[in-house]
Amino acid sequence: MNTLRFFILIVIGPIAICGNFEFNNVRCLVRDRVFLDFDYCYLRSVNRTYKYLSLKTKLHKLPITNTVTNAQIRMRENKRILYNFDVRFDACKFLRDRSNVIVNWIFQTFADFSNINHTCPYHHDIILDKIPVQHINNIIQTVVPDGRYYLNTTWFVDGIPRADVMIYFTKS
Ligand SMILES: *[C@@H]1O[C@H](CO)[C@@H](O)[C@H](O)[C@H]1NC(C)=O
Ligand SMILES: *[C@@H]1O[C@H](CO)[C@@H](O)[C@H](O)[C@H]1NC(C)=O
Ligand SMILES: *[C@@H]1O[C@H](CO)[C@@H](O)[C@H](O)[C@H]1NC(C)=O
Repeated sequence: MNTLRFFILIVIGPIAICGNFEFNNVRCLVRDRVFLDFDYCYLRSVNRTYKYLSLKTKLHKLPITNTVTNAQIRMRENKRILYNFDVRFDACKFLRDRSNVIVNWIFQTFADFSNINHTCPYHHDIILDKIPVQHINNIIQTVVPDGRYYLNTTWFVDGIPRADVMIYFTKS
């Protein structure tokens, strides 16, 4: 099971020596403008070690009672998926039981910088406020080989894809 392999890699990863890791860009793509817009969505560089990601949605159809998220790491030049890293999870179920170890680990790193740390339904817009991206670094940089990638997350509500959030990064 590739999820298990990924988990083993992130657990033993920190003992490995890491190369350079750079976040290049973030893109928020609306698939359904009747459902949502983004107020803002950007990556800002304060200095070499401090970069942050901020994002705010404008949701037109509240409340949100069910949502599924699909996350993939793909190579930029050919869009191939790295290590079959293609994970799908029920976000409302996760917020209830926190039973997915990997998702929980990633969630813990940014929950403090958001207004999403509660169970469904959601009656409000989603705000991610200045998530320091080096948090994400620690997770990803130990796992991936050198190359240019993007993390592609697709957000489904009521079974329909509503938005994609893509984070572009380079490991060298
Ligand atoms: C980068 O900016 C942050 C926030 O202003 C600051 O705390 C940190 O010391 C800075 N790091 C460097 C290497 O200048
Ligand atoms: C999220 O909320 C739960 C329950 O209210 C709390 O125990 C936990 O510490 C919070 N996590 C973060 C990262 O804020
Ligand atoms: C992102 O993932 C979704 C869902 O699997 C897929 O439909 C879409 O083509 C992907 N986008 C890119 C740019 O890879």
